[in-house]
Amino acid sequence: MRNILISGGAGFIGQNLVHAWRAARPADRIVVLDAVTYAANLRSLDPLIADRSITFVKGDIGDAALVRRLFDEHQFTRVAHLAAESHVDRSIADPEAFLQTNVLGTFALLQTALDSWRSAGTMDDARFLHVSTDEVYGSLGLADPAFSETSPYRPNSPYAASKAASDHLVRSFVVTYGMPALITNCSNNYGSYQHPEKLIPLMVIHALEGKPLPIYGDGSNIRDWLHVSDHCDALMAVIERGRIGETYNIGGGNERNNRDVVGLICDTLDRAFAIDPKLASRFPSCPAASGNSCRSLISFVTDRPGHDHRYAIDAGKLARELGSRCSIGFEAGLEQTVNWYLDQETWWRDVTSGAYQAWIEKNYGFRIAV
Ligand code: NAD
Ligand code: DAU
Repeated sequence: MRNILISGGAGFIGQNLVHAWRAARPADRIVVLDAVTYAANLRSLDPLIADRSITFVKGDIGDAALVRRLFDEHQFTRVAHLAAESHVDRSIADPEAFLQTNVLGTFALLQTALDSWRSAGTMDDARFLHVSTDEVYGSLGLADPAFSETSPYRPNSPYAASKAASDHLVRSFVVTYGMPALITNCSNNYGSYQHPEKLIPLMVIHALEGKPLPIYGDGSNIRDWLHVSDHCDALMAVIERGRIGETYNIGGGNERNNRDVVGLICDTLDRAFAIDPKLASRFPSCPAASGNSCRSLISFVTDRPGHDHRYAIDAGKLARELGSRCSIGFEAGLEQTVNWYLDQETWWRDVTSGAYQAWIEKNYGFRIAV
């Protein structure tokens, strides 16, 4: 039985990790620490909080006194650190919060974990997993080999730079203080509970509402899509069996350009409407409701500044050392994800109300069709 702190556990990957961890290790005690920013959603955790299967603490990873109190109370031997500002476009519009949480927040959490483990004399049994991104490696050309753990750091957005800085801090704590930490760098996740500011849920919801599907630039940018369940399995393998001080890359092996991803979303929705006539009355503004293709909504718009062209991950080390491999193919995972958003209308209507509308205006209002 272990006590684990999951920071950012009310975010997209965090919620999925809480559920995966509970299923895999039901005896462990989970404490979620989350500041509940716009990106958080507690709906899937509410039943677990209510029946005390997990403890939820609303708070900032940068609040050292709070974090120290949690360590004293719960004697964590595992930290899975996922709390972050995570959206590239927001980091371009307003980078400061990214430095605050991703750099200074990570520093505070690291420092408090180190102090707590040292004073409790539990460093030998402790592990701190820092969840990071492939964006720290920059952008690949079409013929370049995929990112490996030894690829040089070349972050291109304020988000990527803040995550790179946090990776360097973690590494420095390992080397300087013997911090029992591990780092994972993963590719683009998709699946249930992802905030609709990100490509896949944004396109699904826009299509259902009959709004334009805004593809940045010419849509040739490539991402390596990783289903969040595969990601969570890999994170659990790394935190338990990974070598301390090591970095593990996690990828889906599913490189697709944005044009193809959006096209596939449209085709998946068109099929779903053809199979289930009830969808037409629930989403009358969707072109598929009147027998047309959602592809008619595709619109190419002003590109993201500094838009990385291609990410691809070589996940060989993870497979060789820990036997962990992704199992969900992109087409099957995407269909399951689209169906999840079709079933969870209440969830995304909640998330897309209020402040989200102001973000849509800020990020898309100035983009013209190209
Ligand atoms: P998310 O934006 O959905 O969730 C982040 C969570 O962190 C939210 O619940 C938010 O409330 C919380 N948070 C933000 N600032 C905080 C603070 N100061 N203190 C406490 N909690 C705070 O992000 P996600 O997509 O779930 O990503 C989780 C982690 O995985 C991040 O570190 C991200 O950089 C990394 N990552 C994500 C992806 C992806 O495709 N989503 C890919 C690679 C790496
Ligand atoms: O690679 C890992 C990273 O993946 C994570 O570290 C980030 O936290 C996560 O947000 C994601 O970053 P991206 O910028 O790749 O994800 P996003 O969903 O924002 O965009 C995916 C691609 O789609 C990217 O090439 C930009 C493009 N895009 C995105 C949006 C929101 C569009 O063409 N139109 C859009 O409206």
